[in-house]
Formats: sequence, C-alpha cells, structure tokens
Amino acid sequence: MKTVLIPLPKTVDLHPGACPADAPVTRRTDPALGPEAYRMELSPAGIVLTGGSDRGVLWAEQTLLQLRLGSGGALPCGVIEDEPAYPWRSFHLDCSRHFFSLQEVKKMVRAAACFKLNRLHWHISDDQGWRIESKAFPKLHEIGSQRAGDTFGNFDSHEPYGGYYTRDEVRELVTYCKELGIEVVPEIDVPGHVSAILAAYPDLSCTGAPVAVQTEGGIFPDILCAGKESVFAFLEALLDDVLELFPGDTVHIGGDEAPKTRWKECPHCQERMRQEGLENLQQLQGWFLNRVAAFLKTRDKRAVVWNEAAYGGNLDPELLLQFWFQDRDGQVRRHAEKGGQVILSPIRSAYCDYPHAAITLENVYTQDLAPEDLPAGAVLGTECLAWAEYLRTDRELERKAWPRYAASAEAGWCGPRREDFPAFQARLRELFPLFAQLGVDATEPDSWNPASPGAQAEMEAFKENFTPELMARYRSAQQDI
Ligand code: ACM
Ligand code: ZN
Repeated sequence: MKTVLIPLPKTVDLHPGACPADAPVTRRTDPALGPEAYRMELSPAGIVLTGGSDRGVLWAEQTLLQLRLGSGGALPCGVIEDEPAYPWRSFHLDCSRHFFSLQEVKKMVRAAACFKLNRLHWHISDDQGWRIESKAFPKLHEIGSQRAGDTFGNFDSHEPYGGYYTRDEVRELVTYCKELGIEVVPEIDVPGHVSAILAAYPDLSCTGAPVAVQTEGGIFPDILCAGKESVFAFLEALLDDVLELFPGDTVHIGGDEAPKTRWKECPHCQERMRQEGLENLQQLQGWFLNRVAAFLKTRDKRAVVWNEAAYGGNLDPELLLQFWFQDRDGQVRRHAEKGGQVILSPIRSAYCDYPHAAITLENVYTQDLAPEDLPAGAVLGTECLAWAEYLRTDRELERKAWPRYAASAEAGWCGPRREDFPAFQARLRELFPLFAQLGVDATEPDSWNPASPGAQAEMEAFKENFTPELMARYRSAQQDI
C-alpha cells in the first residue's frame, strides 16, 4: 500500500500488514521530540500518535486524515517520523480589500491546517477598510470599515461596501485556529496604508485633512505623522485593545509602501528628525517602526515588518523582516547580518493572487528558502499570500490560493528535502479530492500549467484590471516610498 501525503514526511517506513480503519488512536506527547515533530505508529492493534507538543499531535492528526483519504479503508502498517524544516509557515488573507465572511476565513484555516501551515497572517487594516471591532477607538469600525464603493480594476460599483468582525467573532476565529495548531498574526499596517484609520481619526496624519476610506487600490499619500506624540499614544492604546484578542507571540505592524510625501513637508516630522538625529525620511520610518516594536516588546510580543522598513538601515535587528519586493541596497542581507531573522515571501514565488501563468505552482513549490546572500539560519520560514483587490468572491479566493498554498506549505515543511516539482505535482493530483472534502474550490490540475488554456484565460481576465492610466498611477505612487 502506498502513502500519498503533503507535506511529504521525513521518513515513512511501511511494514507488511494492515491497520484497520477503526483501529483505536492513542495520543501522547514526548518533549524529547521538537515542538512540531511527531511520530506515528500504525499496527494491526492500533495507531499511536506522539507529538513533541500538542501541536505535533495535531500535525500527526492531519497526516492521518490524508492517509485515510488515500487508503479508502484499512491503513498501512509502519512508522512515520516527521518534523518541519522551518518554524514559520504562514498563509495570508487580505480581509481589508474584500471582507470575507468568518465562515470563509474558517474554511481557509481548516484547509491550511491540513497542510500544516502554522500561522495566519491576517491583514485586517488597510486603505480600503478597518475590519475588527475596537473597544478603545469605536470609530475605527463604525467609520473605517465602510467605503462608498468598490472600484478595483475593471470592476466598478458605487454601492456602499463594508463590514467588520465583532470581538466575539475574532475570539471565535482565534480559538478555532488554536484548535488546529494555527496562531493568528494580526496585521495593523502602519505608518502607510492607513486611509481607513485616518477616515476615523484624521488628526493622526501630518495635515489633519479629511481622508476617505478608499474605494480603489493603490498607494495613498496621507500616512500617520511620525512627529506627533498623539500618534504613538493612539497606537499604544490601539495595540493594547487589539492584543486582548490575539494571545499569540507576534504582531505584524506593516511598514510597506509608505510614501514620504507628507513627512517631507511636515513640521512635526522634521522636528522629530532633528530631535532624534535622523538623517533622512527612511530613517524616520525605521525609527517609527522601532518605536512601535519596542512598545510591543513591553507586552512580550515580537513585531514583523515588510522589507521597506529596513530602507533606512536603522531597523532594530530584533524585528522580523518580511521580504516581498525590491531589496534596495541589500537591506534584507544587512538586517540578517546584524542577527535579524527573515520571512521570505517574494512576489515571484509567494503572491498567489496573481494568475497561475504569472506565479506558477512550480514557482511556489521550488521557491528558494536558502538564498546565497543570506547567512545560514537567518531564514525563519515562508509565507504564501492572496491580496484581495481583485478577489471579490469566496470562489476567486479559493481558486487563487489552492493548491498554491499547499505548495508553499510543503516548501516550508520540507525545505531542502523537497522532491522535484513533477513528483510533487503527481502527489498533488492524487490528493486533489482532499480539496472537495474540505469544501474548497481549488484550481484543477489542467490549469496548473501556465501554458494551458485555463491559465491563459485567467491571465487575460487579470490583465483587464490594468489600464495604462492605472499602471502609470501605481508607478508614480511608488516614487516617494
Ligand atoms: C505588499 O504587498 N504591499 C506587502
Ligand atoms: Zn508629520
């Protein structure tokens, strides 16, 4: 009997004989194993799952579930020993641009757990919507969660659009994730991508001018002022409010795509630079994020930031750096050389909202987790992402994420012991019925090939979102970052 599993376990040692489908299952932990490691023993008498921690036991359960699917009855006998190559294996959901129902988010979580992804990077604040109920700052959800329309790419609606998760719903999700071995990493993106926050609390920008929750994608000039003390008082109270809901060890504080247009002209920001001896606006951004991270440290939390946060060269190496784009002057390497850790999610192998013809399943599976320019040990792991500017429905989200999120999961779990891509693809085809079992509408094998009619049609539809004017606007917004 063969086993078809994703991620591929470290060792599978099968013996003759069969383990009945209804064999009793014993669960235990053995801290001598790594925290996410597990051992599974299948014999005619029963199944023993031993995890290095409760999470290891949960991963063993997922392996058992995949084995059951593949066996259709009795299971093989033998021993599986397994552990991940990388401790950080996250998947991302953008619930700001499009507000996915709690039920849909849970479905994505259930599927992610099946592939042993262990963190949900939950993007809940951006220019187009603030998405969780705030006790400390209720205007965030009252005003910041609502926008006047939905005009992304070639979709154009002037109907009001909005929504937020209540605190009880957030707690429900966090508990659901925990039961499946997944920690939620909320992202409160600052100092840029904050139109929804500024729509509610405009005094937090440099000028204080009114800002609307954005109805289109892009990069917007009004960001949080780095000079006003009131901004830090706000962020600290806000983070305390948010942390009540998220017991995990890590918070993402953004730092991407923050144009310095206003900071350049703002007397408060200029005064801050003088006081702190900062040489340029990039250093002001590094200083800003260091300060928010230092606050989080007082609450025993680590901060993650996008790679632009390192552009000034003054980012505290304790911050986790998430690489996605444009490593100007090798700052990711410099951060790592100072002892900093890095999460790798470059667009070319991680951005699963792009069509399969642009970011192929093979790109995701064969992603490089040991780049030559980073010191060994600097890479904490990987993330797969699905930004939702152009993902309006559950179906669109699922078809973009799956099965590419499973490929990322195996990359992070197996690291250098990954198989070649054709062998992975063959396993994935065999396991494909798992997606139906999970209720997930995954992209079918025929469309995984970038040259296939399905992938080409997806690409053509995607391109229709981008007029030359929009591309010019995106390029020009990049200038000041
Ligand atoms: C990003 O894609 N703006 C991190
Ligand atoms: Zn300012």
